[in-house]
Amino acid sequence: MVNSYSTAIVETKEITSDRYCKLTLKAPAASVKGLPGQFVMLYLPSEYGPMLPRPFSIYATDREKGLISLLFEIRGRGTELVAGFDEGSGIKLLGPLGSCFPEPPPGALLLAGGLGVAPLAFLARRAKTPVTVLYAVQKADNLAFQPEELTRPGLILHLASEDGSIGYEGTALDLLAMHLEQASALYSCGPRKMLSKAASMAAKAGIECFLSLEERMACGIGACLGCVTETVQGYKRVCSDGPVFAAGEVVFNGKA
Ligand code: FES
Repeated sequence: MVNSYSTAIVETKEITSDRYCKLTLKAPAASVKGLPGQFVMLYLPSEYGPMLPRPFSIYATDREKGLISLLFEIRGRGTELVAGFDEGSGIKLLGPLGSCFPEPPPGALLLAGGLGVAPLAFLARRAKTPVTVLYAVQKADNLAFQPEELTRPGLILHLASEDGSIGYEGTALDLLAMHLEQASALYSCGPRKMLSKAASMAAKAGIECFLSLEERMACGIGACLGCVTETVQGYKRVCSDGPVFAAGEVVFNGKA
């Protein structure tokens, strides 16, 4: 693989609920090549001291304008610094990296827990078929984007919150249980515990399931082995073998 470094320019930045940042970068090559499920690494300038690059899932692209949008929670120094870049600033970017989701069949469910919604929103917009997005948060304030942002013909969005402040009162898995019977396949991203249960629900329902795993990453290119996860074929690197895996490959708590 040839790694493509470039200097991306901050085009716009939106911060919501004081904790979520949508950063849109002018990065023509990454925008053209980026596929749902893939991520980019952003490098912080050395003036902030030695810091590892940070991985960010691609939330949206606008190929015509050469834009790529990343949606993330501002949590910790690295993301604070990235969210602090002014419009017009340059930032070193590597990517797009990693594997992508396969094209979903008509009637697929896209199950997002928390910020796992970023790659699934990208997939939902790009899919050529009708899909249903299930997006669950703890409370309405934790919605990382406005639901109106996620619309296209054939796309249905169902929200849930644990406190009932928006959408159905319940968890992501409650939403999944309500919709699984009509689903042709399941695509999911979110906390590992949720992925593990979602994978076993999909297996019981006899439908295909693909998961995007979230792991801490140091290099993003398969060199440091800091992101390995157990699979039925041994340990694999989430950054370069994934982050998207067929659910049957992933070993959760010692069981595939
Ligand atoms: S982050 Fe270095 S191998 Fe994956």
